Amino acid sequence: MEAATEREALVAALSWQVAMGADEAMLDAPVARAAAAPPPEPAARPAARPSAPVPLRRLPPVGEAAAALAAGASTLEELRAAMAAFEGSALRETATNFVFSDGVPGAPVMIIGEAPGAEEDRQGKPFVGASGQLLDRMFASIGLSRAESLYITNILPFRPPGNRTPTDAEISLFLPFVLRHVQLAAPRFLVLAGGVSAKGVLQAREGITRLRGRWHEVTVLDGTVFKALPTWHPAYLLRNPIAKRDAWADLLLLRRSVKDG
Ligand code: URA
Repeated sequence: MEAATEREALVAALSWQVAMGADEAMLDAPVARAAAAPPPEPAARPAARPSAPVPLRRLPPVGEAAAALAAGASTLEELRAAMAAFEGSALRETATNFVFSDGVPGAPVMIIGEAPGAEEDRQGKPFVGASGQLLDRMFASIGLSRAESLYITNILPFRPPGNRTPTDAEISLFLPFVLRHVQLAAPRFLVLAGGVSAKGVLQAREGITRLRGRWHEVTVLDGTVFKALPTWHPAYLLRNPIAKRDAWADLLLLRRSVKDG
């Protein structure tokens, strides 16, 4: 191969890997996994037997499995275990860690973000990267912290490859888990950080621009109604500092409601 063509091929291979989410070096040297584990010997073919008709069992779609697992969890620990064991999403194959929650279970305010980013995936905790630091500062400004008064989770418990936006299918797949999470954590108020969280939890057609800044209601499986405040995602605020004005108004609305009880 000519040097230039070889370089182009290498750049193309690298871009493909980055697009698939392999955008970080985890070890100093690559691991030749295929060489390390020789392929298994082919199993001896069983003697031919007259074929009996195989009964066709309709497997429940993954969405039904997710809903059943979520409904079967009666504590936050059971929910964490059920989600960690759930195999219905390919996202778990590309993520490094399962990210469930941080903060105080039972806190008055529960924040729901979108999905883990690179740092969250590395640490297995939500909102610990740059946008998490802004989130902490925003809530500290109204006297709330993850050490005392906040409980934090995401719509997706796995980082989407290359930090892409979650698909509608991924959001609906994990929604039963999210709603069960809300029911079990039982906060007084929900804060929906960003459009993915707001549209997902409220099952709304409007975008975050129209939804933010006012209280909405979310009804979970047992009929309990939670008050939910959509607001800008801190990552959006980092890119658009002018929107911090709106976010501040949303925080003041939250503070008033927390104080009023
Ligand atoms: N963005 C999110 O929505 N959630 C995180 O946990 C981190 C970044």
